[in-house]
Amino acid sequence: MKSIYLIGFMGSGKTTVAKLLSKKLGLTLQDTDEMVEAYYQMPIKKIFADYGEEVFRNYEQNMLTKTNQKNTIIATGGGIIELPANIEWLSDKKVIYLKTSWTEIVNRLTFDQNRPIWNDQSRDKESLLARRESKYVEASKYVVHTDQKDTYEIVEEIIKLIKRVE
Ligand code: S3P
Repeated sequence: MKSIYLIGFMGSGKTTVAKLLSKKLGLTLQDTDEMVEAYYQMPIKKIFADYGEEVFRNYEQNMLTKTNQKNTIIATGGGIIELPANIEWLSDKKVIYLKTSWTEIVNRLTFDQNRPIWNDQSRDKESLLARRESKYVEASKYVVHTDQKDTYEIVEEIIKLIKRVE
């Protein structure tokens, strides 16, 4: 089957959902953040600190194009839709947007210390989510709401969705 790409804001559960979904469906798992760190041999936090966001976006784009096209569940970074070229590249892929409200994201990420953008006090993350929303919608074929749902419920919903459209 065609690979499935999960997109959505930081804290929307892409990584956790991708892990369980790949396990349940017996498919390979890929994560663009992990691919960046492995390929460029550097934690994302350090890439941002040493080279800045633009360089990270180039690395991320490079990894996106190297993802498996078949039998794989792919968790992407929350900013994958920042480059129009990525949206274009995703246009013929099976892309699911995990949509999460601002309130829920704040609850989930209160103690996070690893995400450079989340932890950058000079950035307004609520506005960033609002600005990205239309890009997530544009880049995706399906939207799954994640508020007040646990990982198992979200995974079940995705499996039903896949069965319905295949
Ligand atoms: C980012 C989200 C992160 C990671 C990087 C930038 C973003 O991924 O790619 O820190 O711009 O929203 P997660 O969505 O997995 O946190």
